[in-house]
Amino acid sequence: MIRFFRVVATVCLGMGLIMFLGSPQAEAQRQPSFGDPLPGLSATEFEEFLLGRDDFLEVENAEEGLGPAYNNTSCAGCHNVPAIGGIAPMTTTRAGILDSDGSYRDIDPKRGSLFQIFSIPTHNCQSVIPADANVISRRAPIPLFGAGLVEAIPDETIQSLADPYDLDRDGISGRAPMVVDLLTGNARVGRFGWKSQLATLLEFGADAYRNEMGITNDLFPAELTFRLMPEQLQRCDLIPDPEDVLEPATGRRGIDNFESFMKFLAPPPRGKITEAVSNGRVLFDSIGCAKCHVPSLTTSASSNPLFDYQRVPLFSDLLLHDIGTGDGIRQAGAEPEEIRTPALWGLRHRRPLLHNGSAANTTEAIMRHGQEAEIARQGFEQLSSERRSSLLIFLDSL
Ligand code: HEC
Ligand code: HEC
Repeated sequence: MIRFFRVVATVCLGMGLIMFLGSPQAEAQRQPSFGDPLPGLSATEFEEFLLGRDDFLEVENAEEGLGPAYNNTSCAGCHNVPAIGGIAPMTTTRAGILDSDGSYRDIDPKRGSLFQIFSIPTHNCQSVIPADANVISRRAPIPLFGAGLVEAIPDETIQSLADPYDLDRDGISGRAPMVVDLLTGNARVGRFGWKSQLATLLEFGADAYRNEMGITNDLFPAELTFRLMPEQLQRCDLIPDPEDVLEPATGRRGIDNFESFMKFLAPPPRGKITEAVSNGRVLFDSIGCAKCHVPSLTTSASSNPLFDYQRVPLFSDLLLHDIGTGDGIRQAGAEPEEIRTPALWGLRHRRPLLHNGSAANTTEAIMRHGQEAEIARQGFEQLSSERRSSLLIFLDSL
């Protein structure tokens, strides 16, 4: 019932918003804030965005399928700074095994490397990192602002930036890893996650729903909890799988709602562009930062004008690189030493930095760049203090 009123309310709100803003052009000119929808959504898209945000915020409990092991009770619990869809000051934990011959393997090949820190309070259902795990990795959340635009960048664009054998001899050898799109079975370029482990928002939401919250769904139908043998898992997991089912009032699953919310989230608004910011931007290009943090990519043709040949100023090539910060975990198409170039848009609201949150500020993050980013870091070290501060002011305008 609450859902029904919600649907009616969102339709009215959507229509109200369109009437309030007047023409689509007027809407397009207004710069959205963090957490706003993309300007120019249709009434139906706006309704889907709000339904999605509802589900993204919803705190789940064991009766709804939470657990047996989980890391948080809602998506927003880990994605809320500086607005819903952002980050949170926390990290998740992954673990694996480095064999004596130097090769990496998952503790249990069927279960990947993620661990959950909580469990529902019955039947001893906690997931525990086994004693033989000798690689431990922490991962910070990634903000979702503008994620729909990132999804709309064609595979070929990302592939055209790759140079795995460093044929141009600039010391940089980015890779575009292929992953299987679970929905279609097709090979796609992975682009979401610190390891580019997944290609679509539908899959990432479904993966997070199962892995971070223990809510099984059509794409990830089996619980994933370390240490629990099947009989024990049965005692811990009382709700039949998949736990994410169609909502009768809307005809949509939770994972459909997450997808809509993320797809229609506006990109982060750019900060003020002062003279120092413009000077810093020139330095960013000239010392080689822009070789990986590519200022903008473009989406392909789309029947939806929101995603049709749109410029996406994300400051990333979406490729995997070894800059010496690797977390030691092999995941999907990524090697233990590789991390995907993070987008820098919205950087001013993101601290701490790097995949594991180990850098307190931008200077620390830049000073950790080595290997493929050795030349760029040296360029930064050699800047006069005035130029260095322009570069940092530029980064803080993103
Ligand atoms: C316990 C904290 C936690 C919860 C709960 C959580 N996330 Fe995340 N999220 C993360 C972390 C950490 C990452 C980075 C993971 C990685 O790459 O290893 C991430 C990354 C993502 C990404 C990748 C974004 C990109 O641009 O690469 C998406 C999409 C995402 N989360 C969506 C969701 C959705 C949808 C939910 C709810 C179903 C959710 N998350 C719940 C912590 C969380
Ligand atoms: C060879 C590719 C490459 C080059 C060149 C490069 N970076 Fe990066 N950058 C990365 C990767 C990969 C990461 C993520 C590393 C990690 O999280 O462990 C990163 C992370 C960052 C971060 C932290 C972002 C976050 O969300 O945590 C900042 C800030 C940054 N780079 C700025 C720069 C600047 C400034 C330069 C030029 C001096 C530069 N980078 C050059 C690939 C590169």
